[in-house]
Amino acid sequence: MTVPDFQALYADHLAAMKRRADEALARGGFDHLVVPSGTLHYQLFDDRDYPYAVNPQFKAWLPLTRVPNSWLVYTPGQRPKVLFHQPFDYWHVVPDAPSGWWVEHFDIHIIRKPEEALALLPKTAARCAILGEAQSTLGDYAPNNPQPVVDYLEYQRSYKTPYEIALMREAQRLGVRGHRAAEAAFREGKSEFAIHMAYCGAVGQDLGELPYNNIVALNEHGAVLHYTELGRTAPAQSRSFLIDAGASFHGYASDITRSYAADTSGEFQALIDAVDTAQIKMGEGVRAGTDYKQLHIDAHVSLMGILKDFGVIKVSPEAALETGVSAAFFPHGLGHPIGLQVHDVAGFAESDRGGKIARPAGHPYLRMTRVLEPGMVVTIEPGLYFIDMLLDEVKKNGHAASVDWARVEAFRPYGGIRIEDEVMCTDGEAENLTRPAFAASA
Ligand code: GLY
Ligand code: MN
Ligand code: MN
Repeated sequence: MTVPDFQALYADHLAAMKRRADEALARGGFDHLVVPSGTLHYQLFDDRDYPYAVNPQFKAWLPLTRVPNSWLVYTPGQRPKVLFHQPFDYWHVVPDAPSGWWVEHFDIHIIRKPEEALALLPKTAARCAILGEAQSTLGDYAPNNPQPVVDYLEYQRSYKTPYEIALMREAQRLGVRGHRAAEAAFREGKSEFAIHMAYCGAVGQDLGELPYNNIVALNEHGAVLHYTELGRTAPAQSRSFLIDAGASFHGYASDITRSYAADTSGEFQALIDAVDTAQIKMGEGVRAGTDYKQLHIDAHVSLMGILKDFGVIKVSPEAALETGVSAAFFPHGLGHPIGLQVHDVAGFAESDRGGKIARPAGHPYLRMTRVLEPGMVVTIEPGLYFIDMLLDEVKKNGHAASVDWARVEAFRPYGGIRIEDEVMCTDGEAENLTRPAFAASA
């Protein structure tokens, strides 16, 4: 496999970032874009800091995720500046001196104390669009997050540059490495916690770096959508395994889910296979001009077709959708934009001047309501679950006759199934970013 030329790709990415910033500043009526990297947050009544989370507006420019108290300064027509905080500190490991494919493009000023940034920021704070958290305030430089600037930049972030796609592919590769190790640990009968550790070990990342908390669920736990409790002892019998876990690469996330059956010739495996085949098809629907809301609705129909085939529901997929029965089995959205953030920004954006595209009625958890365009990357993550609370609602709402409850009982011990890939919209066919990483590691 050829290694991407990040150096060359980054130059184009930076040029795109400057163009976007030029327009955003013009819209907001500002002269400078100023972006603090963020600060450490401390636990209440304690001197322990939370894991540092870099300001996404900062890492959009720079592959720097571990340099708090630093600043990016961009003035149209000028070389961008980085105020790089590298303290004298013998308590902690301090950030390495700036290096990498970005350094040649910036004027870099090392600051040893956060306040040293003050002398290096543009002279008039009022002329700056400052994008950050309130806690990053330094003197007059308080983040103002002007709406027209934020709206424009977030909207543009939907269109991933080739550099970003290359980084996201690396995040897929890392995540898949973990998924392979996790599956092996499941097949060895390990506990959820031990599987999680196997995942982290293989990826080389833990809570501080992973893009979200791993969901590692055996048996019935697969029915808890965000199951993060991680049992310390292995169950007597591991029947099924759902893992939703990603990885980070220079600030870009992957978000991958796989489902497994211990008995690979049983009925639950057959159900997984049916969802897998349907998921691939759904991913192929990621095409320019297609409304993501429609993909979500189509996914309901497709998944209910599977439940009908398996005898779990007794009504047509369309009837299950109409009555809300399908939402009891598939109670989350089909997916979301992804990039610098797992749930990336602008999934509902009506335009680069703001506005929100509403979710379809009855689908409160969908996180993407836009029409797809080339350069967007979204997750496609259909699921089928056997969730007591939601199935009780089906009974209460008068739709008990739509479901074969004996079939539900047969599948309940397996929890649920979710399969999740990242898919890029191009000006032609959809490009699945996740599956090639699995194929390469087979
Ligand atoms: N892992 C969170 C999600 O799939 O959206
Ligand atoms: Mn997701
Ligand atoms: Mn996920």
